[in-house]
Amino acid sequence: MKILVLNGPNLNFLGIREPEVYGTETYQDLCNLITDYVSDKEVEVEIFQSNHEGDLVDRIQQAYFDKVDGIIINPAAYTHTSIAILDALKSVMIRTVEVHISDLTKREDFRQVSYAGMAAEISIKGHGFKGYLEAIDYLLNK
Ligand code: DQA
Repeated sequence: MKILVLNGPNLNFLGIREPEVYGTETYQDLCNLITDYVSDKEVEVEIFQSNHEGDLVDRIQQAYFDKVDGIIINPAAYTHTSIAILDALKSVMIRTVEVHISDLTKREDFRQVSYAGMAAEISIKGHGFKGYLEAIDYLLNK
């Protein structure tokens, strides 16, 4: 099984950006957490981060040709704006789980819409970095 983990803009600044919202652990800590978690599982995980919408669309399309079985995506701010990412996810017909580190339901009105979420089987919000591990378990077990 192949899983692609995609992270959108400013997530490379985890640990620096708004620690009261996103915590003090870094993006590298997140990557290590995911890599360690899958090390004893029958799954190949690739992790990709970009600050650019088109790069995320390109990576989703590439997943189709790479025969990826599941996508875990935190589109970050593009969650609330990007129909292009939604369309890309719908195009490739790959099982998708949306993850957000913070609990969007308790934040600003403009964060209440998720375009990518419309293509996702489930959305995990507000579980911190652990949400990514829950998403992996979901894809492995369902
Ligand atoms: C986020 C929530 C988004 O609203 C925000 O723009 C982010 C991170 C989260 O993981 O909680 O950059 O996706």
